[in-house]
Amino acid sequence: MFISLEGPDGSGKSTQVQPLAEYLSREGYTVFTTREPGGTTISDQVREVLMRLDNRSMYPRTETLLFCAARAQLVEEVIRPRLQRGEIILCDRYADSTLAYQGYGHGNDLQILQQLLDFATGGLWPDLTILFDIDAIAGLNRRKVGGGEWNRLDDYQIAFHQRVRDGYLTMAHKDPKRWAIVNADQEIEKVQVDLRRLVLERIKTARS
Ligand code: TYD
Repeated sequence: MFISLEGPDGSGKSTQVQPLAEYLSREGYTVFTTREPGGTTISDQVREVLMRLDNRSMYPRTETLLFCAARAQLVEEVIRPRLQRGEIILCDRYADSTLAYQGYGHGNDLQILQQLLDFATGGLWPDLTILFDIDAIAGLNRRKVGGGEWNRLDDYQIAFHQRVRDGYLTMAHKDPKRWAIVNADQEIEKVQVDLRRLVLERIKTARS
């Protein structure tokens, strides 16, 4: 089963992935955790290009294609083979990040992005996508307070992050079968409890 974790910057999803993976392993599942952009040697190199502060002159279409390139490699090298072996994949960001950030955030045509993503992923979309929902400003503040690394993509304006959050909510409401929303504006432990309950329930339904 393929599970992706999505949310605006500072939504805390990266903090939640490892405890969730450990919990699912204890429940007897074989779990593999990965993240985007990255997750393979080649994808990590692409990540480095995307995140470098001195790459400020990067155009949105360049950025979009680099995210897709990193993803294409991750799908073929890691995600697809492991899914075929029956593993549970937990992916910290996936194709919906491109729709949220490059699409809703930057205003790139959503239909074109959808086609590009189908191409990049070879048509592989998650069985379950969890949205860590938090107000854009709260998320950004949290990230800075937490001393998180400031990267080039954080430099955009608040309005951009608000569009990203709204985009996520739009996608989640359009496709409730695939998406589930977790309130990320709570204490870490409380978010983890909600997350475990939700994921376990969906895994059991999918496997019954
Ligand atoms: P990262 O430091 O991994 O942050 P996070 O913990 O929030 O995932 O940075 C990833 C950044 O890249 C984040 O701002 C979202 C952005 N992004 C896109 O704009 N498009 C994409 O397709 C992906 C995967 C990420």
